[in-house]
Amino acid sequence: MGFLRCAFTCVILALFFVWTGSGRSVFEWMRPDNFDEIMDKLSSVTEENCRSKPKHELELPGASVSQKPRYNMLLTSVIYSNRSQLLHLHNMALNRAHYYSFIYQRLNRSVDFNYQPGLMYLYMSATADVTASEGFLNGSAIFFDNHCYYPNWYNKILDFNKTTPLFGPRAWREDDYAETTNYLREPTNRTVDIHDYGAGWNKNYSNQAYKTAPWYSPWMPDITGEQDSLTKFTYVVGIKFSNKTGTFIDNEFVAIPYFGPPQPGINDREENSPSLPVQWSKPYFDCGRSNKWIVTASAPVVEYMPRYSPFIHLRRPRTVAVSAMDIEFERIDINPCPISDGNPEPNYFAGTARCKPTTMCEVIPGYGFRRGGYQCVCKPGYYYPWWHDGPFLGIEIEQATGTEYDAWFDCLAVEEQMVPPNEMPSFVERKKRSSSLQDRFIDVISAADSSPRVSMGKLSTTENAGKRQKRSASKKVNKLVAKRSAFKTVKQRMQERRFIPRYPGEKRFMRHKRDLFDQEMYSRMEKILYRKQTTNKENCMTKPDYELYLPGDAGYGADKRFEAEARTALRLAHFLCDFLQNIDEYEDFGSVRGDKRLNETHIFGEVLANVMSNFKILGSGVFFDRYKFRMSPPINNTDPRFVHGITREYFGPFAYTYMSADTDGLEKFRALDYAGLKSPYTQKRWFRDMKARWQTNFEGLKQYTAKPMVRSDPNGTSLVRWEHYPLKYFAPKYEHGEWLRPTFKCDGMVDEWVVTYIAPFFGTNALKTRLEFHGVVTVDVKLDFLEIHQCPGDYSVANAFKNTARCHFKSQYCIPLPLQTPTQRYLRGGYKCECRQGYEYPFNDLSWFFDGQMMEEEYNKMLRGEPNRYDTLKCRIAGAASITLSWVLLSISSFIYLLWTRI
Ligand SMILES: *[C@@H]1O[C@H](CO)[C@@H](O)[C@H](O)[C@H]1NC(C)=O
Ligand SMILES: *[C@@H]1O[C@H](CO)[C@@H](O)[C@H](O)[C@H]1NC(C)=O
Ligand SMILES: *[C@@H]1O[C@H](CO)[C@@H](O)[C@H](O)[C@H]1NC(C)=O
Ligand SMILES: *[C@@H]1O[C@H](CO)[C@@H](O)[C@H](O)[C@H]1NC(C)=O
Ligand SMILES: *[C@@H]1O[C@H](CO)[C@@H](O)[C@H](O)[C@H]1NC(C)=O
Ligand SMILES: *[C@@H]1O[C@H](CO)[C@@H](O)[C@H](O)[C@H]1NC(C)=O
Ligand SMILES: *[C@@H]1O[C@H](CO)[C@@H](O)[C@H](O)[C@H]1NC(C)=O
Ligand SMILES: *[C@@H]1O[C@H](CO)[C@@H](O)[C@H](O)[C@H]1NC(C)=O
Repeated sequence: MGFLRCAFTCVILALFFVWTGSGRSVFEWMRPDNFDEIMDKLSSVTEENCRSKPKHELELPGASVSQKPRYNMLLTSVIYSNRSQLLHLHNMALNRAHYYSFIYQRLNRSVDFNYQPGLMYLYMSATADVTASEGFLNGSAIFFDNHCYYPNWYNKILDFNKTTPLFGPRAWREDDYAETTNYLREPTNRTVDIHDYGAGWNKNYSNQAYKTAPWYSPWMPDITGEQDSLTKFTYVVGIKFSNKTGTFIDNEFVAIPYFGPPQPGINDREENSPSLPVQWSKPYFDCGRSNKWIVTASAPVVEYMPRYSPFIHLRRPRTVAVSAMDIEFERIDINPCPISDGNPEPNYFAGTARCKPTTMCEVIPGYGFRRGGYQCVCKPGYYYPWWHDGPFLGIEIEQATGTEYDAWFDCLAVEEQMVPPNEMPSFVERKKRSSSLQDRFIDVISAADSSPRVSMGKLSTTENAGKRQKRSASKKVNKLVAKRSAFKTVKQRMQERRFIPRYPGEKRFMRHKRDLFDQEMYSRMEKILYRKQTTNKENCMTKPDYELYLPGDAGYGADKRFEAEARTALRLAHFLCDFLQNIDEYEDFGSVRGDKRLNETHIFGEVLANVMSNFKILGSGVFFDRYKFRMSPPINNTDPRFVHGITREYFGPFAYTYMSADTDGLEKFRALDYAGLKSPYTQKRWFRDMKARWQTNFEGLKQYTAKPMVRSDPNGTSLVRWEHYPLKYFAPKYEHGEWLRPTFKCDGMVDEWVVTYIAPFFGTNALKTRLEFHGVVTVDVKLDFLEIHQCPGDYSVANAFKNTARCHFKSQYCIPLPLQTPTQRYLRGGYKCECRQGYEYPFNDLSWFFDGQMMEEEYNKMLRGEPNRYDTLKCRIAGAASITLSWVLLSISSFIYLLWTRI
């Protein structure tokens, strides 16, 4: 009997280990990888110890931020939504670089000196970059090189033509949770600190020993001029000014050339090529400042130096400053999947995902620097086991124990795959079923059953040694479970009828319902796309007005997709709010001259910078309400009417990209003052609507706070508070602006299908007693950059294209899959049809889904009566594993049977 008992125990133990996979300990399967290495680096540096650390310990490898947008690939490759923050950073750095290059070269005569942007202009511009781009960027700065900045606000103590050593106002979003006025003790994200980095205790950022200025060395000091042809570029913008309502000063565009950031060739593939206009820094610890790990995008500001010199031949364009935008490193999505087409080198975190060999890794956006931002989908030729609906999520895998990991996250092989037919289904290639797979399947099922039984631990005291053994084994498992009791076990989560949306807005029914195609919507979509295609620059004049619009729901998704572009307009609105509400042209502060009024050229520069820094923006304008734009009195003015300046009836600078034949298709940029047009813009629907909303009611506007610290003297001996500290202003949020429906702008300027975002801005009335609506800022974004969403949508979603995907919903469900055409995405077919649970992809062609474009194409062929294979593009019912003979199971069961009969 003793022998038998022992044998029995052994068998049970053996079975147990077969069931639960290998006996590896809990976290043994998680080996340290590159993620841990970076994590260690991050946590070894703190606010307290960073000053004593050497420079290389305050930096991470450049490859830890992968897929940085490169200027010359923006139009040729798709920038995914997981890079939209970096793209915005890139574009904003370029935006400021263009603006300052333009304004300092345009206002370069000595009489213009006082019209140049003043001290607060620079501060407020940086503030607006930060406050308007919540969620995108947290820091904005312009850093001037040694003796490259001519302060026009020190004209009382510094001679004209004198420079400051260094000057670098930088705005940073402050964590204001501890502020006395913040009774909620929750960061409002609306407070900004602005410090002049060229002043105070650690001011020499041009020094090699300055550890946290990675934006300095790529551009400055620019002394020799060897690479001038590579690093500078002459831009020409055309501007048509107006000084009187309804007429232009000159009917021709005044061409204004200026030197600006470089323009790379399309073949400059190197990441740090000097001809790229925007350079990325390695992630670094911003020691003593924000004390965060940040990444900076920087772009050069170019100017003729020395600016005021009678020796013209000694002057040359020189990089005088960099504009720098910062984002927190932790906010940047990492891609833990192995290197592949969509995940090119260099990527420091490649391969840190833990997908099993039967699955493929896909990234999930929005995770930032965290583990688990991926999911494992079945490889072509595999399907999900019956107990798991959809992909294995990275967070679940990362929380699994070794045992769970071994048992759970595998896909099962599809058998009898067919070779895809070329035209008509002609033959079917059959493969032999392998029996080893069945075994694995049974293993998985039994593992699924075994663990809960064991973990229930209901076995009370028995004398049975075998049972005791088993119990100790069960305790082991229980411990594993208990250790992680804070989480639900992976098993539990899998057993719940869970639903994880695979795209924003996906509901459970969309994956299970069988009838999700809407013929009416489909015909409507065809009409919309037809109108879009047939309207162009040549014929738009002949079309009736209503044909120049698409319905509002045809612009579905623009608010998400083009948020960065809209925030470019919002930034300008924030700047104008700050400036108009806080600047008093009569104020002077001891040695510092206060800012004066806005100049027309400033606003022209701002709108031009908006279109020049972002390919998607075709037009951008600022439209002042009637009699709200105040001009300075003319120089040497004696006319008493103009002592306090005059207001212009209309002022509406509008910049747009301009393609013309005579420039060989080279893009040029033009701007004109809408005031010169015959019909006033204030009568336009979009302007009247915005004004009607904001004319009397300012409910909802948010108050922003800026805390400017300025230098105490021209040398920047110390930092002191600005006279007005803090500065507060009311400004709109992103939601306060409005997206207009897709429109063909047939105005001889933009001549394209665009969606327009409009943001209001506010000044004060003449007595500075209350807010007043002062106008709107607009951006026109090219509609072709928007992709359409054909997958099923909820009934409440205003999307003209929902429920038009041609998937076979009985066996498939629809997932958006952006088209791989970066500049032309407003087309059908941007989705894929994946097999539903219980169905499998039947073809042996290294794919696991049906592409939307193919579905549309075959469907159209079918409609036209051509040969097609639309009917074969379906998933088939997954083959249930048939019960076949397993030698192991057979011998074990006969062994047990034998034992049993003997007892
Ligand atoms: C100002 O800039 C323009 C164009 O770049 C140039 O032609 C002109 O000489 C400059 N004027 C002065 C005073 O530097
Ligand atoms: C501030 O920003 C954080 C992080 O972006 C966000 O979680 C939080 O909700 C924001 N706070 C407010 C009041 O908007
Ligand atoms: C507008 O400019 C033109 C050309 O410089 C000038 O002749 C005209 O007097 C100006 N008009 C006003 C109202 O300033
Ligand atoms: C401005 O400064 C430069 C360099 O210091 C000098 O060459 C030039 O003569 C000065 N110009 C004027 C108008 O003072
Ligand atoms: C900006 O700062 C806030 C508060 O510190 C932080 O929560 C957020 O992640 C930061 N955002 C970016 C884009 O860096
Ligand atoms: C961003 O998403 C795309 C498509 O989902 C993917 O190919 C790419 O690797 C992702 N990039 C990063 C850095 O996560
Ligand atoms: C803008 O600057 C120019 C000089 O470049 C000046 O003639 C004009 O009056 C200024 N406009 C305003 C509104 O200050
Ligand atoms: C600034 O520094 C220079 C050189 O270090 C010195 O000559 C000058 O007097 C200083 N200016 C002021 C206002 O302190």
